[in-house]
Amino acid sequence: MKQRLRQAKRGACCLAWVCCASSASAQPASASASASSAALGYEVVGDAIPNPLTGVPGDAARGRAIVVNRQLGLCLLCHTGPFPDERFQGTLAPSLAGAGARGSAGQLRLRLVDARRVNPASFMPAYYRAEGHMQVGAAWQGKPVFSAQQVEDVVAFLQTLRE
Ligand code: HEC
Repeated sequence: MKQRLRQAKRGACCLAWVCCASSASAQPASASASASSAALGYEVVGDAIPNPLTGVPGDAARGRAIVVNRQLGLCLLCHTGPFPDERFQGTLAPSLAGAGARGSAGQLRLRLVDARRVNPASFMPAYYRAEGHMQVGAAWQGKPVFSAQQVEDVVAFLQTLRE
């Protein structure tokens, strides 16, 4: 218990559904090479998940709606981006403008699935990881934040952000 409290104090942020504290459970980047998550069925190759998580192509319009949604994606808690109608955008993370030019679909996919596989010190939440969440309510235990299709929708949207 003490251990958990200490981790929580060190944590960068706690959202309703996932605590994205930087903790000892962060995996070193080197462990990511060609590791796979059997439970959720994706394969990490280097710094990317090259294959889509579903057979249905992502829908960029749905992805945009997820990104600006304050209950679901909550991306704008930390990020700014090309969303002129959205008030109160975050200042903790780089702007999402140009994200599609900076990373391939596979790199964007891994970043969303589990950002700490890209950067072990990241405090961006893992949106498609079922285990390893800290301090989440029973209803959220063992469940990823996004469905596989929602990951694909957000990847499709991010790819449209070219400048
Ligand atoms: C709790 C804060 C937080 C939230 C919420 C968050 N991010 Fe991030 N994100 C970061 C940080 C910090 C970085 C910078 C790199 C790092 O630390 O991993 C980052 C980096 C990124 C990058 C790479 C940026 C670049 O310049 O190439 C992308 C793409 C991204 N986030 C997308 C998203 C999307 C989409 C969402 C919502 C589904 C989201 N993030 C939610 C904190 C957050």
